[in-house]
Amino acid sequence: MKLYKNYIDGKWLESESKDIIQVDDPATGKIIGEISCAKKNEVDLAVSAAKAAFNSRILVDMPLLERAKLMHRIADETRKVADEGGKILCYENGKMLGSAIKEFNDVADMFDYYAGLTDKLEGKTIPVSPTIFDYTVLEPFGVSAHIVPWNFPISMVGRSLACSFATGNSTIVKTAELTPLSATFLAKAIENAGVPNGLINIICGFGNEAGSYLVSHPDVNHVVFTGSVSTGKKILHSCADKTIPAVIELGGKSAGIVYEDADLDQVIESARHGIFGVAGQICTAMSRLVVHKSVKDELITKLVDLSKSLKVGPGYEADTGLTPIISEKQLEKVEGYARSGVQQGAEAVHGGKRADREGYFMEATVLNNVKQDTSVAREEIFGPVLSVLEYEDQDEAIHIANDTDFGLGAGVFTKDLKKASWTASKLESGQVYVNKWFAGNHATPFGGYKQSGYSREKGVDALKSYLQVKNVGISLD
Ligand code: NAI
Ligand code: MG
Repeated sequence: MKLYKNYIDGKWLESESKDIIQVDDPATGKIIGEISCAKKNEVDLAVSAAKAAFNSRILVDMPLLERAKLMHRIADETRKVADEGGKILCYENGKMLGSAIKEFNDVADMFDYYAGLTDKLEGKTIPVSPTIFDYTVLEPFGVSAHIVPWNFPISMVGRSLACSFATGNSTIVKTAELTPLSATFLAKAIENAGVPNGLINIICGFGNEAGSYLVSHPDVNHVVFTGSVSTGKKILHSCADKTIPAVIELGGKSAGIVYEDADLDQVIESARHGIFGVAGQICTAMSRLVVHKSVKDELITKLVDLSKSLKVGPGYEADTGLTPIISEKQLEKVEGYARSGVQQGAEAVHGGKRADREGYFMEATVLNNVKQDTSVAREEIFGPVLSVLEYEDQDEAIHIANDTDFGLGAGVFTKDLKKASWTASKLESGQVYVNKWFAGNHATPFGGYKQSGYSREKGVDALKSYLQVKNVGISLD
């Protein structure tokens, strides 16, 4: 079996420890590949390469149009590996092949987009006095460490890496131990584009080992993390100890409000992608629907029809409608939530348990009559489990939607756009989707309110999180 390796300082390295991580296909449980497992030694090598590359100023002092051209080359090379890398991603993550290939193309779009912004990072002049000339410059932090999860193993690398590179930082990406293989294709594209050694390093190791060591490393100046709340808090403590900034994105419990006048077919299309896409393992999953009493029965019937129509299967079979959960452990967690929902009074109108077949599959699950104080209404399940709650008046709907520790996504379904924008203004959430879940692209800022995190990824807004401001005051006396 081919052994995949870590990309450090422009070289493909095996771990000194010789330890490997075996990666399985969640649709079958069979091992599909092996990667050399980075440990302390490889983290040290990656950090010192990144630090040396930053201190050489090769990227910082590169004429900005050259930096942009290099980024366009990364984009082009990424598109070239999209089919092959997408296939591995489909096998290691379980998602649909088309979605997996799209992740690579999304990364290419990110690099093209941020390439165009490299020479537009402007400071300002500040009128201090006639004899002081004062101006600001935006500067990178130095070595930026990115810890990415397994649900979008490529596009989440792309969004932070493109921004980090565009702003002149040197980057180390630590991929998730469940899905590390596909990112080696991205590393290959970076190598093929001719990126100078050390500016981008991609390693894979366990979170509690390589991950925690990387973020606490004294030479790391900036951290980007997407994942669970508990790991996010550990990383924030580690950053606080060093007083370094972090971009943090920690999932959610996003609710869609369905008003009386909603087009229910739009709600169903949003459910198809928003809670059953990638088997619901999406940080902005539409995990709750808050539905007006008058349309709830009709919507439940349509949700059951949708659930029945989704064929459970691997992402590499074109007629699949519901792909697997990433691991046995995650499947047990998701199934446990569905079970506890029913024990706490909800009705499973479809699904509720693991699918009766090999691999880690959960049935498409729709829980009706969910009460607001139960775990399936409040906690992130990260699976294809939709909780349906009922409301009678508009204020109650907004109260239910906001009554969570999270604030990553929220949605409104209505034909009345005035009501939609009124509702959007009341929702405590980093993004609000009106009539279409996930409306947005690489240019739209993404991030959380409340415990879903802070700082933004994507769009022009994200650049701020990767730069620090230097003020220069010059006496003209
Ligand atoms: P996790 O947060 O532990 O893993 C995410 C990444 O963090 C992985 O690359 C992992 O290696 C790394 N990591 C883990 N511990 C670390 C540490 N101490 N220091 C540095 N890096 C560390 O999430 P996990 O256990 O894979 O999934 C558990 C739950 O987290 C899911 O059920 C879901 O609710 C949530 N989650 C949310 C995601 C999102 O997109 N918001 C993505 C993945 C998980
Ligand atoms: Mg696996």
